[in-house]
Amino acid sequence: MSISLTRYLVEEQRDKGHIPPELRLLLEVVARACKSISHAVNKGALGGVLGSAHTENIQGEVQKKLDIIANDVLIEANEWGGHLAAMASEEMDDIYAVPNRYPQGEYLLLFDPLDGSSNIDVNVSIGTIFSVLKKNSAYPTVSKEDFLQKGSEQVAAGYCVYGPQTTLVLTVGDGVAMFTLDREQGSFVLTQDHVQIPVDTKEFAINMSNMRHWDAPVKRYIDECLLGKEGPRAKDFNMRWIASMVADVHRILTRGGVFMYPWDKREPNKPGKLRLMYEANPMSWIVEQAGGASTNGKTRIMDIQPKELHERVSVILGSKNEVDRVTQYHTHA
Ligand code: AHG
Ligand code: MN
Ligand code: MN
Repeated sequence: MSISLTRYLVEEQRDKGHIPPELRLLLEVVARACKSISHAVNKGALGGVLGSAHTENIQGEVQKKLDIIANDVLIEANEWGGHLAAMASEEMDDIYAVPNRYPQGEYLLLFDPLDGSSNIDVNVSIGTIFSVLKKNSAYPTVSKEDFLQKGSEQVAAGYCVYGPQTTLVLTVGDGVAMFTLDREQGSFVLTQDHVQIPVDTKEFAINMSNMRHWDAPVKRYIDECLLGKEGPRAKDFNMRWIASMVADVHRILTRGGVFMYPWDKREPNKPGKLRLMYEANPMSWIVEQAGGASTNGKTRIMDIQPKELHERVSVILGSKNEVDRVTQYHTHA
């Protein structure tokens, strides 16, 4: 008998006491939004959703039409339900407080509405990443400061990958569950529970074109992998780089591996490319819940105190033994 996302969440709430009813509602709404984004992605050129929107986000990146469509879908789905105080997104400069005409809730939702934007027009897997925090302050108004919580404070995190299948991956702190979208039924169905990342791997994911800009510990780690059987690792490594973090992380959850988007010398003042609050934190919690590890080289990502909503961070995550090795190369450099 198949278990729907709804049933999974009801059981997390009622039988296991893991999540309150409002959080269950929130996650159902996010899943519904992802379903609708999945439909838009699938229509592609037929739906007129490909190409550039000719606008820029706060990080100076040119927005694609789908970046904006996905952002709007998530806001419209979530603003009226009464479960949220505010939202924050890669595609919005400031936080989006729930308008006064709707009831206010106690949760904060952060998202990367469309991850892997460079892959949209070439029909390669893309996704949505989300993170849920609780508003701690008793002030009736919500501000950016309410969002600046460590990843370890997350109450739910997930992503949806729009690939050959649409798969929603979720954690509420009770392991990692994967749900596949059944298009006939229109619902997400549990297809894997208690996901575990193998602790060892022979596969790494990094954008090799940046090699000349890397820091010494990253270069040492990759150099050693490339030396294969004859080198210090005594095994041949394989490489994958999809350029959609969701798709790369999804592969790692499925068969292991290590993913790195480290700080490099191109823009030395930037701590990295990926964003801490709506890319690195949710992915880190998912990876840790699946037995993997996630660090910026020195600090566990979920222990970093954010200072800015759109703060960037160096990311090394995946199979535990490999992440530990890269960390060692950083600390004993
Ligand atoms: P986004 O599309 O949300 O801006 O994120 C893209 C990110 C991430 O998904 C991916 O791992 C990385 O950028 C790819 O960067 P490069 O093009 O530098 O390889
Ligand atoms: Mn992204
Ligand atoms: Mn994005």
